Amino acid sequence: MGSQKQGLMWLTGLVFLNILVLSMADVHHYEFFLQESNFTKLCSTKNILTVNGSFPGPEIRARRGDTVFVNVHNQGNTAVSIMWEGIEDSNNGSNQLIQPGRNFNYEIELDDKIGTLWWHATSAWARATVHGAFIVLPAANEDYPFPTPDSDKTIIIGIYIYIYMYVHQS
Ligand SMILES: *[C@@H]1O[C@H](CO)[C@@H](O)[C@H](O)[C@H]1NC(C)=O
Ligand SMILES: *[C@@H]1O[C@H](CO)[C@@H](O)[C@H](O)[C@H]1NC(C)=O
Ligand SMILES: *[C@@H]1O[C@H](CO)[C@@H](O)[C@H](O)[C@H]1NC(C)=O
Repeated sequence: MGSQKQGLMWLTGLVFLNILVLSMADVHHYEFFLQESNFTKLCSTKNILTVNGSFPGPEIRARRGDTVFVNVHNQGNTAVSIMWEGIEDSNNGSNQLIQPGRNFNYEIELDDKIGTLWWHATSAWARATVHGAFIVLPAANEDYPFPTPDSDKTIIIGIYIYIYMYVHQS
């Protein structure tokens, strides 16, 4: 009986904690414009598909429990879809191809893990340039699972850059 009561108290505590976490949740809106851009790196200019002309693409930053809307406008020449890597069961429409000239507003619920994830285009050639970091911070009233850092820095290491450097060194 006693342990049953304790279990119930625990459960009530957990439900309360969850409500507390979720009630502080934010909603974020991002606008992504997929467009061909002339991009110059190491004195060589290439026409690549980018998000808002930036490579790597814009960083998404939110907290656990938040909802993120990413409205992707395809101004490129081919159909694409974006994948939100590591965010399972909560992404809507990842298998939907966005035709050129169209848009799709993804709804992503971050009710699962925290950490540094990434987003990318699903087709192999577009993925090389269309990708970026997706940072899920702990909820507002939640601690890091390690000592709270003073600051953070995002480092993106792409295979594309690795090959590029290799070719130029040899
Ligand atoms: C992308 O560009 C559009 C139009 O200039 C702007 O409204 C939007 O905020 C930009 N998105 C990001 C993530 O920087
Ligand atoms: C990229 O550069 C080429 C050659 O200068 C130009 O013809 C083209 O319009 C440029 N494309 C964009 C998207 O700026
Ligand atoms: C995905 O979006 C569609 C249309 O907005 C909606 O009917 C459906 O319930 C959503 N699915 C999930 C898993 O959220």
